[in-house]
Amino acid sequence: MSNPLRAVRGMNDLLPAEAPLWQYFETLLHGWLKAYGYREMRTPILEHTALFKRAIGEVTDIVEKEMYTFVDELNGESMTLRPEGTASCVRAAIEHTLLFDGGKRLWYAGPMFRHERPQKGRYRQFHQFGIEALGFAGPDLDIEHLLMTARLWRLLGLSDCIHLELNSLGGAESRARHREKLIAYFQAHEAVLDEDAKRRLHSNPLRILDSKNPTMQAMVEAAPRLMDELDEAALAHFDAVKQGLDDAGIAYKINPRLVRGLDYYNDTVFEWVTDRLGAQGTVCAGGRYDGLVAQLGGKPAPACGFAMGVERLLGLLAEVGVAPPAAAPDVYLVNVGLAASRFALQAGETLRDAGLDVVLHGGGGGFKSQMKKADASGARYAVIIGDDEASVGEVSVKPLRGEGEQQRVALVAAVELCGAGVSPASTDLF
Ligand code: HAM
Repeated sequence: MSNPLRAVRGMNDLLPAEAPLWQYFETLLHGWLKAYGYREMRTPILEHTALFKRAIGEVTDIVEKEMYTFVDELNGESMTLRPEGTASCVRAAIEHTLLFDGGKRLWYAGPMFRHERPQKGRYRQFHQFGIEALGFAGPDLDIEHLLMTARLWRLLGLSDCIHLELNSLGGAESRARHREKLIAYFQAHEAVLDEDAKRRLHSNPLRILDSKNPTMQAMVEAAPRLMDELDEAALAHFDAVKQGLDDAGIAYKINPRLVRGLDYYNDTVFEWVTDRLGAQGTVCAGGRYDGLVAQLGGKPAPACGFAMGVERLLGLLAEVGVAPPAAAPDVYLVNVGLAASRFALQAGETLRDAGLDVVLHGGGGGFKSQMKKADASGARYAVIIGDDEASVGEVSVKPLRGEGEQQRVALVAAVELCGAGVSPASTDLF
């Protein structure tokens, strides 16, 4: 036999055993987003490459080396698998004039693609839940996003293992002033700069501050701080955000080196970080990006948002021991014989009409092996049908969990027997 084909490196299958945790997380998120008035937006996975170049910035790691970009052979256009959701969300809002009657609170979820070196918590296809508030200026939306995320960590039981890092990048003028000072400072320390830093010296010196290279750490620590260049408006915005966090009792750490890997930010930037996941500890990140709507061709509109990495958050949930029970059916339908098999299909539909979850044993097999499967399925009841029962429209109901005798009854009575004790709570995942 030929070698079996494997999935693309860094792109994961979601197996049935893992699905309940994803479903629990997604269901919880839907309720959480509704509570804050955010509405869903779905955009294509594929966009024109120009969108990401313009939004994220030409001299960023994402655009320079991480995008899955290819030329569509049919029309010669350069296409890119989306590496993040903000650019597409803004593009769609402009294209469909969503902001014509004021600000919009939006959310999206789905796979993103970055050609990074795969490791635990870092994948080439990963999933984000993101939210974008488009058309809102004041610091209140920045604060809302931080309150939202803090609530989510509480809902998930993760508050104790995630902390907030915060910074302000100020406006364009303060960044330009800071940039000049940074370039001069880095030039004065050229001997310590690594190749990456030298390359970025004039194109994106701010990103040098983000370097993890240990030999550059002391020099980077002492570099001119953007915070010292912030003008009054930026400082007032930042103070209001900090005040909002203090009012809500949310702890944070100011990290002057937090500059983010995408170019569209101004003023508030933040990351929620855990030390329980090793090197890939940022589970959620975002900030304000007041210039992006205009940069992508829309009528100028301020905006802010964030996105979380689903794999990282679920990894953290697993790490702290949250594991949903495997979803089990109410009934496993055992059927032995030709007439029984026909009747079982019908009985399954009747049981489902009554709201029960039913797994029909398929593919034949003896009574003993089917009962083993019934037990392993986690079902509360085995509903057993032989040709004998089928001929008179009856079934045998055997409780598989807890007390109770096997009973042979008419199908309608079986519905009652299996339905007994099912409350909405008992069908919840947790
Ligand atoms: P980002 O920091 O590039 O921001 O990504 C957000 C989150 O996605 C990260 O904090 C991390 O949890 C997750 N993530 C990123 N790359 C990977 C990867 N290779 N494997 C697994 N997880 C990953 C953005 O994407 C911005 N669009 C966020 C935003 C929204 N800012 C404003 N609005």
